[in-house]
Amino acid sequence: MGRTSERGPASTDARPPGEAGPGTTAPRTVSRGRYAGMRRFETALDVPDELAPILLRMLSVQASCELVSVQQFRGWLNLAPTIEDRWTMARIIADETRHGLELCRLLGDFGEEGARAVDDVLAATTDTIPAPAFRISLDRWVDVAVFLYLIDRVGLAQNDNLSDACYAPLARAMPQMRREEQLHVGVGTRLLTQMVRAGQVDDVVEAIERWLPIAVGMFGPETSASATLAVDGGLKRWDNGDARDRYLTAVAGAVEDLGVPVRVPTARLTPPPGGPT
Ligand SMILES: [Fe+2]
Ligand SMILES: [Fe+2]
Repeated sequence: MGRTSERGPASTDARPPGEAGPGTTAPRTVSRGRYAGMRRFETALDVPDELAPILLRMLSVQASCELVSVQQFRGWLNLAPTIEDRWTMARIIADETRHGLELCRLLGDFGEEGARAVDDVLAATTDTIPAPAFRISLDRWVDVAVFLYLIDRVGLAQNDNLSDACYAPLARAMPQMRREEQLHVGVGTRLLTQMVRAGQVDDVVEAIERWLPIAVGMFGPETSASATLAVDGGLKRWDNGDARDRYLTAVAGAVEDLGVPVRVPTARLTPPPGGPT
């Protein structure tokens, strides 16, 4: 059986077509892209051939990042400054492991190819993972805080980008994952706020400025054939450039709230003169 099955518009969907926002249940039909109006793809076999490799790769990359972040965090289980901080790290590690588990289960939907991907995910380490953010050891507590503040916020952006995915199991996984990433970002914000109040502004600024380009790089190149296909096919809401700009807008607001002198580049958000209005 091929991946693409014949299907027509779902006629029994009582819900109006529309977007599935964070925390909501995805409607049964695809709400965007070239498959809009069709029933959402419930299994890997239903996913169109053009989208399946992109989806498989996306799930593999995300699952690897989730599990390798556990390797980065785990040393702090016994070294975080307070018992509350140690408990918080234990909770975050549990959440990231659960995210890895959930994504590996989705990979399991992809037959032998998915099983091989799971093997690779489980073998990934801070030395082998390509994404720079997950290769850096978190030697200082301020780096843990900034990682949560900036890199987990990239995870949050990714959750938002996939929250209306045409692959239904992925869309369904997003609300809870998003809530948990939101909590991790909240922990990072709280820790950085404490550090700023304790007079460690220079450390906080230095760490944010060091990590921000790494975080921005996680969105990939401005234009990418696979990202365009992911948007056209209804997997993602936004292409790389738009997702990155939304992220930078959020970071700019967060840094302003934190009250530290970090300039966040959001220039692309201003349309060039003479452009469409
Ligand atoms: Fe996560
Ligand atoms: Fe997280």
